[in-house]
Amino acid sequence: MTAVLAGKSIIITGADSGIGAAAARLFAKAGAQLILASRNAERGTVFAKELADQGATVRFVRTDVSDEDDVRAMVAAALESHNRLDGAFNNAGIGYAAKRVHELDRADWQRTIDVNLTGVFLCMKHEIAAMLKTGGGSIVNTGSVGSVSAFPVAPEYNASKYGLLGLTRNVALDYGKDQIRVNALLPGATDTPLVPQQAKLKGPEHAMPHPMSVLGRMATADEVAQGALWLLSDAASYVTGTALTVDGGFTLT
Ligand SMILES: NC(=O)c1ccc[n+]([C@@H]2O[C@H](COP(=O)([O-])OP(=O)(O)OC[C@H]3O[C@@H](n4cnc5c(N)ncnc54)[C@H](O)[C@@H]3O)[C@@H](O)[C@H]2O)c1
Repeated sequence: MTAVLAGKSIIITGADSGIGAAAARLFAKAGAQLILASRNAERGTVFAKELADQGATVRFVRTDVSDEDDVRAMVAAALESHNRLDGAFNNAGIGYAAKRVHELDRADWQRTIDVNLTGVFLCMKHEIAAMLKTGGGSIVNTGSVGSVSAFPVAPEYNASKYGLLGLTRNVALDYGKDQIRVNALLPGATDTPLVPQQAKLKGPEHAMPHPMSVLGRMATADEVAQGALWLLSDAASYVTGTALTVDGGFTLT
């Protein structure tokens, strides 16, 4: 693989599982200097060591993206370790309680909004402050096909992911003049621990009304991470404010 992220200092949130972990492996091979962030200190530390043993420049920082002090410390760690911040893959996210709106507890609503939407706001707030000091950067926020299509029994998830796309477009508009590109990545069904957890909660009676993709299978986490790699690289230097679907054609149906 060519080192398309060579020398770039990049944060990945939700980095110890699923799409974030695939991105960490891919970005390390592409030459990035990485800060890996997630809530799970034990899993994150073991994973960062595994990548470091393979030659990656990597540091794990335990971070709850819905906590502003944690997010501030995560960005400070990137500046301390690598002197700058060139890119961020704001990917941490959680699913939904699988209830219709009249049955949904406010706490379930709030938890998903706090992580999937407020977490992305907090990350961008502190990442952009760092990027402004060094003349620009690139941010990719993980939305979902649920940023553009309704899912059964997922009101809080749909609200958080539609909101994420609106926020992404807003920030792309405001920071273009500062050479900061901001894009959303919209995965379809992807083979990660989130999918079976969610399917179990939903039960078969609330299955999606359409097939999960026209390719007849789920995405691998690596296939989705490839989209983030491209958006963060200079190959996408004229791309900002876009929503890149990596969904095997799900949104065609
Ligand atoms: N798997 C899919 O089918 C699918 C489809 C569309 C979108 N997505 C999105 O992709 C992203 C990654 O999901 P995944 O499928 O890899 O799931 P996953 O459960 O494998 O990974 C989620 C990661 O986010 C971290 N995380 C959760 N809450 C956090 C918090 N408050 N602070 C910091 N880290 C936190 C977890 O520790 C984990 O590392 C999510 O935003 C999800 O909504 C996934």
